[in-house]
Amino acid sequence: MSHPPMQLMADSPVKVNNPGGAPEPASPEDQKKMEAAYAQMKRKMAISEMGKTIKHKIMVLSGKGGVGKSTVATGLALSLAQKGLKVGLLDIDITGPNVPKMMGLDGRRLNVEGGRIHPAEGHLGVKVISMAFLLEDEDSPVVWRGPIKLGAIQQFIGDVEWGGLDYLIIDFPPGTSDEPLTVAQNLPDIDGMVIVTTPQDVALLDSRKSITFANSLKVDVIGVVENMSGYTIRGKAPAGTAIELAAPGGKTIKVTTDDNGDWAGTLDIFKAGGGERTANDFGVPFLGKLPFDPGFVRGGDDGVHRIVSEPEGESSVAFAKVVTEIQDIVESGSNGPGLEII
Ligand SMILES: Nc1ncnc2c1ncn2[C@@H]1O[C@H](COP(=O)(O)OP(=O)(O)O)[C@@H](O)[C@H]1O
Ligand SMILES: [Mg+2]
Repeated sequence: MSHPPMQLMADSPVKVNNPGGAPEPASPEDQKKMEAAYAQMKRKMAISEMGKTIKHKIMVLSGKGGVGKSTVATGLALSLAQKGLKVGLLDIDITGPNVPKMMGLDGRRLNVEGGRIHPAEGHLGVKVISMAFLLEDEDSPVVWRGPIKLGAIQQFIGDVEWGGLDYLIIDFPPGTSDEPLTVAQNLPDIDGMVIVTTPQDVALLDSRKSITFANSLKVDVIGVVENMSGYTIRGKAPAGTAIELAAPGGKTIKVTTDDNGDWAGTLDIFKAGGGERTANDFGVPFLGKLPFDPGFVRGGDDGVHRIVSEPEGESSVAFAKVVTEIQDIVESGSNGPGLEII
């Protein structure tokens, strides 16, 4: 029985001039094309493998910078790790090397072995890959042309040896730019995104943009977190003393010391409740509030995140609550934006 001649697609790198006979040896350009196609195929296989070996993938986004997105992304990763889960943190922000700093990995460079990228291990065993690992000098700003940046993101998705993970948290630069789009297009089975907002109205408007953006990307919104929400001050006075605190906006907060003589009052330094309002307006879950905590700033500077330095502290407890909400949503598969996809 004779076989029909082998059919090659029009754009195949292998050219056959004598149909039915043996293909001629490939030219150097064709060889390059074949190698590129092979590398692409290997990357696709690695990505599809990632789909299986990483149980949950969460993008952390905000409309604008400075709302504490990197602090929150790092905190979520650490809080999940605190619960004994295997966690990875992918930091795609080339402009600010905050994540390596907060994870105690300042100055690290990319570790490539056998053609695969190996993550660095930060606090609590969290595996970290950061764009900052590619920088020669952290103090000089990096201007990458779009295609190079997006190529690096694709490589970070396909070529990293994460091993098995329960959660992969992905931090982005501020704004609704190309980076989340590239990740959403290349990484399969993303559980959804967590939107970080501060209680202020301006931040609120911007995070609304993020939600609409999530929608047009077809990535579910897991929910909204309100960061820098309320600053708790504490003090001591004789037991049962009534104390009046002058709060912003001319308000007064009344507190009374407990039996040990401790008092605590929470001041809303920014307007209160913005995150919850955004979540309600869009019909997405409100995941909780994270307090304004000067320890985050210090932690960012000295490389020890608040969750590591004070695992039982107020901020760690607040993060743990938010993480439980997120786990409930993604592990039950009930995440959905409740919005029409445009
Ligand atoms: N809850 C918080 N309380 C106090 N400071 C915070 C809090 N969250 C973030 N910060 C501080 O705000 C600044 C910006 O945070 P960062 O996480 O880099 O924001 P983004 O990634 O959104 O640009 C940092 O100095 C950080 O330490
Ligand atoms: Mg950031």
